[in-house]
Amino acid sequence: QWGLNTEWLGKTIVHKQVTTSTQHIAHQLARDNADHGTIVVADEQTAGKGRMDHTWNSPKNKGIWMSLILRPATLPYLAPQFTLLTATVLADVLTEETHTAPKIKWPNDILLNGKKIAGILTEMQAEQDTIQYVVIGIGINVNQSEQELPADIRHKATSLAIETGRTWDTQKLIQRILLTFEQAYDHYLKNGFLEVKHKWESYGFKIGETIRIKTMRETWRARFMGIAEDGALLTKASDGEMKKIYSAEIDWFKQ
Ligand code: BTN
Repeated sequence: QWGLNTEWLGKTIVHKQVTTSTQHIAHQLARDNADHGTIVVADEQTAGKGRMDHTWNSPKNKGIWMSLILRPATLPYLAPQFTLLTATVLADVLTEETHTAPKIKWPNDILLNGKKIAGILTEMQAEQDTIQYVVIGIGINVNQSEQELPADIRHKATSLAIETGRTWDTQKLIQRILLTFEQAYDHYLKNGFLEVKHKWESYGFKIGETIRIKTMRETWRARFMGIAEDGALLTKASDGEMKKIYSAEIDWFKQ
């Protein structure tokens, strides 16, 4: 049915017409020993999850709502690399298939023309120094019209259809994403993170520009230099000091 050309990714595909969240299903399957490369796809989610307890609007047949189960033999602190890798895969597929010019907004948003079109939610189960499994959730707004986006996010979210003026075959896009992901993942395990980092930075939103960083204690400006191996944001202050940022609010749109 899915017509995949992959070697290991998507050998098992669990397809739900409707479910709460493909993340929930994937966690259940992973706990029940699902194989590396198992995928959960839904036509519709009733409780789609975004990062930081946000909800993710996932209307029927309007987008790609899927979760990948991976069992990498890497250290837990490097798990953010999978999010960064996934972002480069989505950016590559959008570029090649739809001839758009996506940007990646750290850590995990894909933007088209400055608005969010896709998000990635990576969740990990680890014990001490071993990853049990990673679930990578991918949500892409594909065929929503502007009216079909929730009113409260219309100013900052978009869909592929809105940006390109035509509808897209989600199944075909899923095929491309899975094949590109498999190749990128195998390449990364063999060759390390450096190429992923460079690719990510080539798509990075506001790289080289001044951004405003806000923590509980202070707000300051710094230049966004790139990403570190552990997924942190690398910044350089006006006095030349380099700093790694892990969690802070970034004001991307104000200088
Ligand atoms: C974000 O940008 O906050 C991440 C959004 C991730 C959404 C996807 S849709 C498929 C998978 N299932 C979920 O409930 N969430 C992820």
